Amino acid sequence: MKQFAPFRLDTTNECLWRDSTQIALPPRIFGVLRYLVQNAGRLITHDELLDALWPETYVQPQVLRTYVLELRKVLGDDAAQPRFIQTIPKRGYCFVAAVTRYDADAEAASVGGAALDIAGNGAGSGNNSRGIVGRDEEMARLRTLAEMAAGGQRCVVFVTGEAGIGKTALVDSFCKGLGATGVVARGQSVEGFGGKEEYYPVTEALGQLCAAEEKPFRVLEKMAPAWLAALGRQGENGAAAVTMRERTPGDLCSALEHIAEEKLLVLVFEDVHWADDSTLNLISAVARRRTPARLMVVATCGPGHGCAAGERPLKKMKQNLLIRRQCVELALTPLTRTAMSALLTRELEQEMVPAGLTGFVHQHSEGNPLFAIAILEHLMARRFLVREERAGARRWQPVGAFEEMEGEVPERLAQMIELEIEGLSEEEKRILGAGSAMGIAFPAWAVAAALEEDAVHIEEACDGLSRRLHFVERGGEDELPGGMRSEFYVFVHGLYREVLYRRQSAARRAAWHTRIAKRLGEIFAGREATVAREIAMHYEAAGDWQRAIDALRSAAGNGNGGAAGLMEDALRLAEKLGC
Ligand SMILES: Nc1ncnc2c1ncn2[C@@H]1O[C@H](COP(=O)(O)OP(=O)(O)OP(=O)(O)O)[C@@H](O)[C@H]1O
Ligand SMILES: [Mg+2]
Repeated sequence: MKQFAPFRLDTTNECLWRDSTQIALPPRIFGVLRYLVQNAGRLITHDELLDALWPETYVQPQVLRTYVLELRKVLGDDAAQPRFIQTIPKRGYCFVAAVTRYDADAEAASVGGAALDIAGNGAGSGNNSRGIVGRDEEMARLRTLAEMAAGGQRCVVFVTGEAGIGKTALVDSFCKGLGATGVVARGQSVEGFGGKEEYYPVTEALGQLCAAEEKPFRVLEKMAPAWLAALGRQGENGAAAVTMRERTPGDLCSALEHIAEEKLLVLVFEDVHWADDSTLNLISAVARRRTPARLMVVATCGPGHGCAAGERPLKKMKQNLLIRRQCVELALTPLTRTAMSALLTRELEQEMVPAGLTGFVHQHSEGNPLFAIAILEHLMARRFLVREERAGARRWQPVGAFEEMEGEVPERLAQMIELEIEGLSEEEKRILGAGSAMGIAFPAWAVAAALEEDAVHIEEACDGLSRRLHFVERGGEDELPGGMRSEFYVFVHGLYREVLYRRQSAARRAAWHTRIAKRLGEIFAGREATVAREIAMHYEAAGDWQRAIDALRSAAGNGNGGAAGLMEDALRLAEKLGC
């Protein structure tokens, strides 16, 4: 962790700490802060920051201003007399506070915790994360928490992150590393079961516990017989006594504490975003009870599926626990490029990854391992990557330049995304489709222009979508000429944008681009030069090259600073037109 008094940047949980208060930040805003802090003391230009946050994607620089504004609010910073973020006019930003390293492990150790030889922590214990890459920090955090739990300090951990980011892989790897130092039982939440079968994942985990050892069975028989009956098993007291009582979280908590008296007990609840309320209440009860117990609950939690996130009991429960420091959240971030290279080495089973492959896969998967593997499979299936025999060894090699594969969405991912889109209403599909015409970030005004609808209505609809869907988030507020303001939204993953864009007919896309270009011209009337490239880009996408050239030419002719570049673009288009 890095610290800059009085704050600490927690890259594992993607949040900020002020002393013992955790401050949650939206992912993109956190991304800006992280980049600035990691590069403290030097000028970060707008382009560098945009490249770091949205590689290979055009994003309006105003977006950055909004993010920095938000950050200043959080940090209590003043742009006129900056203590943290200094604006370098027309160039970028510089993080000016002194940044030092903060040793979280040392603090955790001083809190207490049994000496437990969990693989990876004990000397010579090897590396239990051999199967996964790039999750050393998260694994170390889980091990520290497991050690504390083994010492009697119970804990509840939520491992969160987008679909395919590696929640299950991390938890599996952690559990494997526990070896004989802990007992693990798992319960899976299943989509659609939440409202129908109470305690579904808990029952599954208890079933595993009772099947593996005698003690849990005996404890449940004595302290929580109704829970045993729900497993379809009964103790010596018989069913009659059992059916008299309801399953209560209190009974089960006491029983679990008893089971975990001598040995660490790890309960893994997978995909609790689909769990029923009773299961969530049980997790909450485990977190809140104060009796010492060698108990650790690890719950994986994906993005919201279909329910309004703001109203979801899981979100509320997690936040309540986080505020009271009764749970820990491990928010998984995309794999770094180095980790991606290691993942490819592992998948290809060869030491050297072909030149260009890591960059290509990293860029298009945006660091998501599930997407990365799907892209790799796609390259193989399309016979773009082939196995060649060289010097007696068989190695995967590309047969062309990676640019040739640019823009192809692997079938498996396209289907996955299509399924999610199919679940949306017609209006939602239209709004997101129109948004996709803008790119990875889309302001509400542009969607309103494309659909010829009222901007306020669109803004409200987009707000609802960003709360409900996991792949769209609110980016901030766009400031436009004449004091006009408009919310903008961001596709958290470029592949979603790609699929949404591609599923539109060419005619519809062209109409949307034309309307957006026109509206841009209206909003920036008198200052069209500042958005000439954007206007031209939309006309070009609409196939209206003449208007695209006109926009570039008139901007260049108006003495715009980048006249040469604009003319170059205009000439490129003119060549296409054959004029
Ligand atoms: N750190 C990693 N190193 C290597 N492979 C990984 C890593 N993380 C994930 N994977 C691989 O990526 C794929 C998706 O990972 P996983 O199933 O763990 O994601 P998830 O976050 O649990 O997704 P979901 O939200 O769908 O449950 C799996 O094939 C997994 O083996
Ligand atoms: Mg999973």
